Amino acid sequence: MISTKCWNLTDDVLKNKQDIEEAADLIKSGALVAFPTETVYGLGADATNEKAVEKIFIAKGRPQDNPLIAHVATVEQLRKLVSHLPAYAEKLIQAFTPGPITFVLQSNGTCASNVSAGLATVAIRIPDHPVAQQLLLDCDVPIAAPSANISGKPSPTTADHVADDLLGKIAGIIDGGPTGVGMESTVIDCTNDLGPTILRPGGISKEQIEKVVGKVSVDPALTHSHEQPISPGLKYKHYSPEVPLVLVKGTHEEIQTVIDQERSKSFRVAVLAGTKTAEKLQAEKVIPLGKNLDEIATHLYSGLRMFSKQDIDLIICEIFPETGIGQAVMNRLNKAANESIIKG
Ligand code: TXA
Ligand code: MG
Repeated sequence: MISTKCWNLTDDVLKNKQDIEEAADLIKSGALVAFPTETVYGLGADATNEKAVEKIFIAKGRPQDNPLIAHVATVEQLRKLVSHLPAYAEKLIQAFTPGPITFVLQSNGTCASNVSAGLATVAIRIPDHPVAQQLLLDCDVPIAAPSANISGKPSPTTADHVADDLLGKIAGIIDGGPTGVGMESTVIDCTNDLGPTILRPGGISKEQIEKVVGKVSVDPALTHSHEQPISPGLKYKHYSPEVPLVLVKGTHEEIQTVIDQERSKSFRVAVLAGTKTAEKLQAEKVIPLGKNLDEIATHLYSGLRMFSKQDIDLIICEIFPETGIGQAVMNRLNKAANESIIKG
């Protein structure tokens, strides 16, 4: 166990510049600090320091072959990490950074090799969050940061989620309040001169990307579960709540029928649903996730982390439309439920 320093920056980020400097000094000294981004909390280490990066894999229990995202503050810093940037990638960078999108590019070897898990490529993101931006400016090195959760669990969208998983294992946690987007970034492979391929749906939708560069490819593994994903991390169990999760497709009456069937087996059931549906459902706990897909994305991981085996036996979650950020929401839910789906 190590002592974890917590800084509360929820009132005014810029008033607390000294705290961010202190966190940056810890990262520069080779320690791990969790910090907020606009998507989820990240667990940061100096991406040029192999020993510091190694600590991330240990703290999270992350498989060694799952590469990390290097975060930088500016496009100039991104250029310093890569050997080649196709013209279409420049366009995407122009359109969407800073923001919830990660570019997989040819590495020039500046980041430590374990950031890329030995691949010749490196994933780079410019986060759009004042704390993340200030931390990156103060560190003046790229920060390697996966989501700040124990591997396999839902990503953290609050500092409390981070503390639940990593208190005593890392040097610090910066609390910047709940994150906004709530889903991780879109990971897009830009190593092919012909055009990009989406490896993981996320905060920027396929439709938004296609408006900038025309038709984009999607890793076939995202739609066919028997295919091996291109992105190494996507083959692992992910986003799993403590309590079993089942997804239900159907009207609110059909969802209620499934709830009633499970409750008749003496299961204590919690339900996650869009606000409109949630208002019409009855179970031990009903959590409205939001009025639209953006709000649902923001609140999904909190919902998945809300229940423990002591009080709930089963979580039932509504199936949402796969438009816009709904693609990311359903990608995460399908993994969290291990494809356990009931058609109402
Ligand atoms: O929004 C986000 O992306 C958050 C915040 C903290 O920035 N980070 C995040 O990191 O979600 P992580 O480690 O949980 O997910 C990174 C994903 C993994 O699926 C990994 O396999 C993939 O990106 N990835 C990283 N480097 C890659 C590479 N060189 N080639 C292909 N996939 C890569
Ligand atoms: Mg993750």
